[in-house]
Amino acid sequence: MDTRVPDRSLAGRVALVTGGTGGIGLSTAVGLARRGAEVTVTGRDPERGREAVRRIAEAAGSAPGAVRLRIADLGAPGAVRRLADEVLADHPRLHLLVNNAGVNHGTRRTTPDGLEENLAVNALAPLLLTRLLHGRLAAGAEAGRSSRVVLVNTSAHKMVRRAADALGDPQAQAGPYVAMTAYARSKLIALMAGFALARELGDGPVTVTAVDPGPADTGMTRAMDRTFLPPAMRAGWALYYRLGPARRSAETAARSTLAAAASAELEGRTGLYLDARGRPARTSPASRDPRDHDAALALLDALGADTRTPCT
Ligand SMILES: NC(=O)c1ccc[n+]([C@@H]2O[C@H](COP(=O)([O-])OP(=O)(O)OC[C@H]3O[C@@H](n4cnc5c(N)ncnc54)[C@H](OP(=O)(O)O)[C@@H]3O)[C@@H](O)[C@H]2O)c1
Repeated sequence: MDTRVPDRSLAGRVALVTGGTGGIGLSTAVGLARRGAEVTVTGRDPERGREAVRRIAEAAGSAPGAVRLRIADLGAPGAVRRLADEVLADHPRLHLLVNNAGVNHGTRRTTPDGLEENLAVNALAPLLLTRLLHGRLAAGAEAGRSSRVVLVNTSAHKMVRRAADALGDPQAQAGPYVAMTAYARSKLIALMAGFALARELGDGPVTVTAVDPGPADTGMTRAMDRTFLPPAMRAGWALYYRLGPARRSAETAARSTLAAAASAELEGRTGLYLDARGRPARTSPASRDPRDHDAALALLDALGADTRTPCT
């Protein structure tokens, strides 16, 4: 059985979807727009972005101007801040932030700020953007209807046995680079920081939900091959790929995000993790210690997610 996507109307709700120009984010944006939300998507490539806006508006039958585009490379904290400024200037109301953009590179890459890219895009950017937009999200909440932050995570966070493996080498500098290991560690850090953020925000007007979309046939997975895996797992790649990403569409994978964004059952509930079927589930044992949650948050704050310390 696959995810039951809630039919709740999102008319009048304003949503921002990072990485909404392709893959799961694009399907998420279509799903939100079909339920009546005004949607802004972000990506790096203007042409790809304009095409995505056209496709979302067409698929959802949106009113002219109801789907918008913002260009930002989320690998740079300065660009995340500029994106937040633009959104704050353009969106007097905001109810939903879907932190979907993510990367998984075959070789170690760093941003111009010297940050390892998995960490910068998958973990730091979502926390920083959420912090910067929290006030606007909080202002958009109404009685009985919280604003929502969705953190698109992955079951791959379970590949990391101990939180210390991720927190002790967040920039993937120790030993040979293994793409899935660096990706999984960045997602574990993002997940733990998300739990800490949910605790920090408490039962306030903004809820935080992490989701696993499950495997999907997207640009990300099409770019992968067996060398992305740790050597001991490489023999299983072809089978995993055939039974996993190759068989599941981005549209199906978007359903857990849509559940987190729209489900009435989740109203007011925070700090949850939804599995690929959109159901509350347990995360890995390595992800559950509140001290590690605080450490993940502190790590990302020190790297630029602390909104009290403006960075360029
Ligand atoms: N596909 C899967 O099997 C799978 C499984 C579990 C979890 N996930 C998670 O689901 C999310 C979406 O993945 P996907 O498979 O849909 O990926 P995708 O097809 O590669 O799409 C990624 C999106 O993010 C944007 N993006 C990439 N790097 C960016 C950057 N540095 N700054 C700003 N935007 C950036 C891309 O747009 P531009 O290229 O125009 O910037 C695109 O819109 C990710 O968080 C991923 O970790 C995916």
